[in-house]
Amino acid sequence: MKRLQDKCALITGAARGIGFAFAEAYVREGAQVAIADIDIERARASAELLGNNRTIAVEMDVTRQESIDSGITETVRKLGRIDILINNAAIFTAAPIIEISHEDYARVFDINVGGTLFTLQAVARHMIERGGGGKIINMASQAGRRGEPLVAVYCATKAAVISLTQSAGLNLIEHGINVNAIAPGVVDGEHWDGVDAFFAKYESKAPGQKKREVGEAVPYGRMGKAEDLTGMAIFLASDESDYIVSQCYNVDGGQWMS
Ligand SMILES: NC(=O)c1ccc[n+]([C@@H]2O[C@H](COP(=O)([O-])OP(=O)(O)OC[C@H]3O[C@@H](n4cnc5c(N)ncnc54)[C@H](O)[C@@H]3O)[C@@H](O)[C@H]2O)c1
Repeated sequence: MKRLQDKCALITGAARGIGFAFAEAYVREGAQVAIADIDIERARASAELLGNNRTIAVEMDVTRQESIDSGITETVRKLGRIDILINNAAIFTAAPIIEISHEDYARVFDINVGGTLFTLQAVARHMIERGGGGKIINMASQAGRRGEPLVAVYCATKAAVISLTQSAGLNLIEHGINVNAIAPGVVDGEHWDGVDAFFAKYESKAPGQKKREVGEAVPYGRMGKAEDLTGMAIFLASDESDYIVSQCYNVDGGQWMS
């Protein structure tokens, strides 16, 4: 028996990377998936890869309320309902404290925190209205567990995601909506190519050096792959996690204990 048979999921930022791996895993487990992304061309290509009978591509900018609302309306119109939301869209930034600008701070908080909160809110309204509960998974990070010298803003956004998960989980469980989070460690992919470039600039490292160093520091022995996270994402979306509320799970090869 597939574990997400006939469930309908909306995954933000699923055109590539970890979100795409989640979409692929959910389809394998029997779900239909809305691949929601600001990059609609890539979302369409990703939906096509996974099969247009099980997926749809939805244009959504999680920083704009009308875009969140229209993406949800389109998903409900095409898939019938939303049982599962993964708030996965986010961006990374890095800079020494004395160089952080208001613009960068606002941009990153708007996507990582505002996008998570207001997408969660809009989907929760839909779930409450149709009844029957639901599952919401927020993408946190080990960066939300502790600060890092050059990563203050991104770390603060992910700490905020962990806190929002706790509050929203406590508030929504009376409607049968479980809100939980996943905190990955270092996961290879296009996102980390960007992170590597930031550190090349700020720590005078050769391209690829930071990636090598963080991979070697993981107790498991290597950087994570997007596929390493799919087991937790399936579990938290399935009935097996009904009694789990407001938690944030580290899936990071042993980097952080909490
Ligand atoms: N890669 C890692 O090492 C790592 C570690 C910890 C946590 N995470 C978290 O996991 C999640 C996925 O990371 P990833 O590595 O796949 O990132 P990624 O950069 O590869 O993918 C992010 C996706 O979000 C989309 N996006 C960006 N802004 C958007 C917006 N305003 N509205 C809608 N979509 C938008 C992008 O187009 C992209 O498809 C993020 O929340 C990230 O913070 C990643």
